[in-house]
Amino acid sequence: MSKQQNLKILFLGDIVGAPGRRVVIKFLELYKNYFDLIIANAENCAHGFGLTKKNLDELKEAGVEIFSGGNHTFDRKEIFDFIETEPHLLRPANYPINTPGKGFTIVNVKGKQIGIINILGRVFMEPLDSPFQVIDSILDQIKDQCDFILVDIHAEATAEKLAMAHYLDGRVSAIVGSHTHVQTADERILLNGTGYISDMGCCGPYNGVIGMAIKGVLLRMVRQLPSKFEIADGPAQMCGVEITLDPYEHKCLAVKRIKFNEATIETDINYFDQLYQNESN
Ligand SMILES: [Fe+2]
Ligand SMILES: [Fe+2]
Repeated sequence: MSKQQNLKILFLGDIVGAPGRRVVIKFLELYKNYFDLIIANAENCAHGFGLTKKNLDELKEAGVEIFSGGNHTFDRKEIFDFIETEPHLLRPANYPINTPGKGFTIVNVKGKQIGIINILGRVFMEPLDSPFQVIDSILDQIKDQCDFILVDIHAEATAEKLAMAHYLDGRVSAIVGSHTHVQTADERILLNGTGYISDMGCCGPYNGVIGMAIKGVLLRMVRQLPSKFEIADGPAQMCGVEITLDPYEHKCLAVKRIKFNEATIETDINYFDQLYQNESN
């Protein structure tokens, strides 16, 4: 089987504010055709908190097809105007029953059915339903309809993400982490074939504290005083992973980290050009 027949999924970490949207749009203008499906965590698109319809439309126009969420999904009230009608906008599946929106979706990509599930961890986070029990119930519903299943676990604790990864190993194609905004270097294929990374990192400014301006964060951390978080100034970076799926064996072949730096755009573009030219040769 030639390499071109594999499915290439781009999964982007949390998009933070205007700088995050800007770097994602810039990257996709150049590279969206390299991917068969583009998914992004969109919980921080609106100035770091939530998602507006304008943000959603802008990213859809750029090529993002599936949007996952997290603990900030409901930060903007206007999301209630469109979360029920957007077919591929997700919020974590383990919110209470009857919470607007949905925690999973299924899309057809080149004749293959790909399920995407979004789940929220509970360690150092909201006391939602058990992510383990909720994901079991979703898998019971969709596993027979899907050729591949991808999971975004939005969680603070690496241990909880790894525990979920081993819980799902062999039952889903890949599980990728979001929420910490810092990309980890632990991508791998687990023993039973599931692809994994603890955190994809964020798409947003990197001269701040996980996307936020340093001054406001230090006021809270050092002096323990209330402060308003603002998006950090300066260039952004785009972080995510490329997941390679074998459509014949129904296997995850690779999870590869991607980091695209807006400040060194020319170098990065050359790097990506070479990377993908080499793969297609
Ligand atoms: Fe986030
Ligand atoms: Fe989050």
